[in-house]
Order: sequence, then structure tokens, then C-alpha cells
Amino acid sequence: MKNPINKPRRDFLKASALVTGGLIIQPFHLPGAYATGSDEIKLAVIGCGGRGTGAVFQAFETGHNIKLVAMADAFRDRIDKSYEPIFNKYGKEKVDVPEERKFVGFDAYKEAIKLADVVILAAPPGFRPDHFEESVKQGKQIFMEKPVAVDAIGIRRVLASAEEAKRKKLNVVVGLQRHYQSNYRETIKRIHDGGVGDIIGGQVYWNDGGVWVNARQPGQTEMEYQMRNWYYFNWLCGDHIVEQHVHNLDVANWVKNSYPVKAYGTGGRQVRTGKDHGEIFDHHSVTFTYSDGTVIFSECRHFPGATNRVDERFQGTKGNAYLSAGNHGILTDWKGKEIYNHNRENNPNPYQVEHDELFDAIVKGEFRFADAENAAKSTMTSILGRYATYSGREITWDEALNSNVDLMPERLAWDARPKVLPNEDGFYPYAVPGKTKVI
Ligand SMILES: NC(=O)c1ccc[n+]([C@@H]2O[C@H](COP(=O)([O-])OP(=O)(O)OC[C@H]3O[C@@H](n4cnc5c(N)ncnc54)[C@H](O)[C@@H]3O)[C@@H](O)[C@H]2O)c1
Repeated sequence: MKNPINKPRRDFLKASALVTGGLIIQPFHLPGAYATGSDEIKLAVIGCGGRGTGAVFQAFETGHNIKLVAMADAFRDRIDKSYEPIFNKYGKEKVDVPEERKFVGFDAYKEAIKLADVVILAAPPGFRPDHFEESVKQGKQIFMEKPVAVDAIGIRRVLASAEEAKRKKLNVVVGLQRHYQSNYRETIKRIHDGGVGDIIGGQVYWNDGGVWVNARQPGQTEMEYQMRNWYYFNWLCGDHIVEQHVHNLDVANWVKNSYPVKAYGTGGRQVRTGKDHGEIFDHHSVTFTYSDGTVIFSECRHFPGATNRVDERFQGTKGNAYLSAGNHGILTDWKGKEIYNHNRENNPNPYQVEHDELFDAIVKGEFRFADAENAAKSTMTSILGRYATYSGREITWDEALNSNVDLMPERLAWDARPKVLPNEDGFYPYAVPGKTKVI
């Protein structure tokens, strides 16, 4: 099947009549209390970890009349750990989540979504297609975290729901927060205006020391262990090329106004070799080729003690661009003369801007945000990279997007067995480039 997804983003933006950042405004009616005269917006959070909790704070900090009415998590202790700081800061005026609205388990999301006008989706990315699909089905306004899936099957579901969300005029903001960060917005606008000519190459990086590990505890079932240590299992996380590096690959797609047509790469596990390191790699280097022949080199690695680099660089026919989450946005000509240098002072926190802009649209009854389609395609870019590094083969976008390899367990229950299991010594199998079939 040929897919139409890879047309330049410029065209898809024109076609979709909606631009991230809110240029075209269409009125909608919020279901629930907001529509019936009360101006209170009911909020539910699905996935009450670090980001879900942070996003609730940011929703409240918009200053709108928002009440948290439901919380859902796979684990009860995670709800308690999240509820406490939220309640302590905002109190019963804004937090009305009695016992019967704290939902626990794999199906908890369905009940919580029902009770809300706006949902925050912040569980591990493997569940995002389920949670997003259900939220759209129930007609909710949505903030969802990146990545939005971990395999092509999940991406296709998110793309279908993204279309449905547009049809229903549901605002969807995705936590690819560089789209809400002023140095990226201002600098990329100037790149698109031809500031450094046509972009013909680039390098994007997420190289740092890695993330948390949750070691196996006595008495855990295999399912509970993998859920607690979710970063290290692809059905939950997608590997760090998907979970983190999606931010930088998304910037490349944004700058190019397009998505890659193929990827070729290498990767492996050099320092991440313990029993609690599951199946993910610790380094990936990929070249992504776009339809106009542009090659973007991408590198992500988790090597403690090595030189860190998290940024994006691009070369144009007339000069260079440098961007980073540390509020950089610099354009220079080929002689090094500065064309633009984004002022790093007083840039608003993009995590807050996402919520400020989303709730502003909601309160005004406007349909402004349709981030899910781009988020799905940028997540797909990361998954394409993983398919390339795991297989050691060049893989096209079309092959990757049409993959039917399903990472999800057959059944979601505490006694169910995930598809990837440890050997008798407690180590997990991982991909061997040149041997492993991934799509
Ligand atoms: N945009 C950003 O900069 C940024 C930063 C951090 C995290 N994130 C994203 O946010 C998401 C969550 O990350 P985190 O750091 O908060 O992780 P976390 O482990 O702190 O939180 C995830 C929570 O989801 C819960 N959960 C697991 N399965 C669930 C299910 N089926 N239903 C409901 N809850 C479930 C977990 O128990 C946990 O409480 C990830 O997708 C991550 O990539 C984005």
C-alpha cells in the first residue's frame, strides 16, 4: 500500500486547514458542564507519574476555572503520590477526587475519561493509542504526551483518531513542547522564510547519561515488573530513540516541512547490559533521507560520563541554523555572520505555554489545535529509526508504516505474560542487527 503521508508537511498543513500554534479558528461546543452554563472545566489525568502530575499543575496555573475530578493509573500508589502534592497546593476548591473517582488498573482510563471535559494522557507511550482513541471516541479535549505510540500498528490507530478528532473539532495538544517554545517558533519561522536558504542537511542529537531504572522487587509478576520498569521494554516505551529522541527528530521534520522516506542506521548496547535493562539499546545513529534528497543525521545515546549533546543543527544553501531546548535559535550565513539570534532572556516555559494556549482555546470555545497527526508522524520517524538500527537494514517509510508487528501482549492483566521474557539467568533478548526481523 502506498501511503499519502509523506507529502511535504506544507501541503498537509494547507490541506488540513489547521496550523499548530493556532492560526485558523473554528468554534466548537465543549460537552459537559462547560456547555451547560457552568464555566467549570472538569479535568481528568490518565497516568499519574511525573509528567501527568506536572501537567495537572500546569493546567491549574493557566488560571482558568478548572477542577480535577478523576485520576487513573495502573497502580494505586502512583495515584496517591500524585494526588498529595496536587491537593496540598490547590486544595479542595480545585481538587475533587474522592476514592470512587480514583481509578486503578488497565481499564481505569475509560472511567476517568467519562467524567472529564479535558483529559491529560500521560501513561507510558505503549498505551497512548488506546487512551487517545477512547478520548476521541468520547469527544474530549485532549493534552497528550509524546511519543504517541511504539509501533506502526499504534501509529495507524493514532492517525485514524487524529482525523476523527479534527472532524469532531476536538483540540489536541501534544507534549512536543518545542512547538510551544519561542526560540523554536521564531527561528523555524525564519528558516521557513528562507533565512538560510533551502535546508540541505542537518544533525540532531539526544546524547546524555540515561534515565531511571526500577529494579525487580520480590513478589512482582513479570507484568508488574515490566510496567514498573517500563522504560526498558519496547511494548511500553519504544526504546529511547522513540521516547526521547522523538523531540529532535520532530524538529528535523518541522524544519524540513516533511517526513523522511527512508532510514539507515546502526546501534546496540554497550553500557546498558544489566538484568534491569530489559531489551532496549543504549545508542542509535541513523541517517534519515527526505524526498528531496536531504539527509538528516541523527544520534541518540545513553552513556554516563560521555559528552552530552541535545540539540539540532541544520545547513542551508545560504547558511547554518542552531537550535536547542536551552532557548537557542541562531542563524548565520556561510561566513559565520549572524543573521538572527533569539533572545534567551524571559522565554516562557513551553510546558506552561502548551496548557495556556490549549485552555485559552477551550475557554473561548475555539478549535485551534490538531497536533496529533504531526505527533504520530514524528513518532513514526523515531520508530522507523529503531526498525533501521535493530534490523541493520535500510528501511523505507512505507515499509515501516505498513508493518504489522504488534509489540502489545495478547492480554493486559497482572498475571498475563508480555511477549518478551527473560531467560533463566534473568536477561532479556535484544535485537541483533543483520539477524533480527523487526517489521
Ligand atoms: N514532553 C516531555 O518533555 C516529557 C517529559 C517527561 C515525560 N514525558 C512523557 O510522558 C509520559 C509519562 O512519562 P513519566 O516520566 O511521567 O513516567 P512515569 O513513570 O513517572 O509515569 C507514568 C505513569 O503512568 C502509569 N501507567 C502505566 N500504565 C498505565 C495505564 N495503562 N493506564 C494508566 N496509567 C498507567 C504509571 O504507573 C505511572 O504512574 C511518557 O510518554 C513520557 O515520554 C514527556
